[in-house]
Amino acid sequence: PADQTQLIPITHSVLLHVFFFIFLFALFGCLKDDLKNKLFGQHVASEIIFKAVTGFMSNKNPKKPLALSLHGPTGTGKSFVSQLIADNIYKKGRDSQFVHLFSATHHFPHQDQTATYKVRSLQDWIKGNVRNCERSMFIFDEMDKMPPGVIDVTEPFLDFYPRLDGVSFQKSIFIFLSNAGADNITQTALDFWKKGRDRKEIKLKDLETSLSASVFSHNQHGFFQSSLIDCDMLDAFIPFLPLEYRHVVQCVMAEMKARGLQPDKDEADKLARDLVYFPKPENVFAKSGCKTVANRINFYSRVLASL
Ligand SMILES: Nc1ncnc2c1ncn2[C@@H]1O[C@H](COP(=O)(O)OP(=O)(O)O)[C@@H](O)[C@H]1O
Ligand SMILES: [Mg+2]
Repeated sequence: PADQTQLIPITHSVLLHVFFFIFLFALFGCLKDDLKNKLFGQHVASEIIFKAVTGFMSNKNPKKPLALSLHGPTGTGKSFVSQLIADNIYKKGRDSQFVHLFSATHHFPHQDQTATYKVRSLQDWIKGNVRNCERSMFIFDEMDKMPPGVIDVTEPFLDFYPRLDGVSFQKSIFIFLSNAGADNITQTALDFWKKGRDRKEIKLKDLETSLSASVFSHNQHGFFQSSLIDCDMLDAFIPFLPLEYRHVVQCVMAEMKARGLQPDKDEADKLARDLVYFPKPENVFAKSGCKTVANRINFYSRVLASL
């Protein structure tokens, strides 16, 4: 009987390990597929995100939370990819009660109230959520519109503390989204295009230097003078490239499919041609990426016909 009581915890822990690896296996496969099939034109971001998220999730005892900073022009998939990550980690995906969205313009509408905002409420909110579930995910949108200094409230959570007021943050995920660095990223993508080089040849190192420099110097940016950068608490700066015409067409086709319509290449072309492209006269990149696609598709003839 003594042997049996010892056996139970062993089987239990073996089973837990088995489930953990099944979960990881599923996560890696699905996230990889989602990044490959649903996120268009972002080979650099896809690769770093996959490595960062899977590396973090497969570590049972991470020393600090995962903190990613996503940069790039509007409508290129930053919010979208955060949702894809959530979809692959939580059972209820982006709708999970453990996924928290925090938007600068929504939560900090007035620049002058920084001091009041900075008060402990944001920290308490984060702490309360992590106490509830240590695998919580926080998405801070529109970081460039965040009053300088506010984001420093997240600093103690991103550090290597095993516990803070009895709460352990090491398994949480923090994702910061912003347009900071967009001009530099776009310039690099344009340089490649002008030299006739394949977009896929763009590597992280082609963007990295100008990216961190522009994030640093941008005084409207929430990271400006933030101790997060000083202390290297962000695990990765992830660049999003401006989208080209062909990516917009892909977005339109995907949106048609999502609405239960038969994807129609001719109609997708028609819709993509209606968007504004820049710089003139080359018209290489869609000015607002795929942002307006979902709205525009409402005017697409077959959607109207089905009303
Ligand atoms: N690279 C992309 N691949 C696939 N869909 C995209 C991409 N970029 C944007 N979209 C589509 O456009 C919508 C708006 O993009 P979003 O992720 O909100 O842009 P932002 O980079 O400004 O956060 C998304 O919900 C998605 O449907
Ligand atoms: Mg967004």
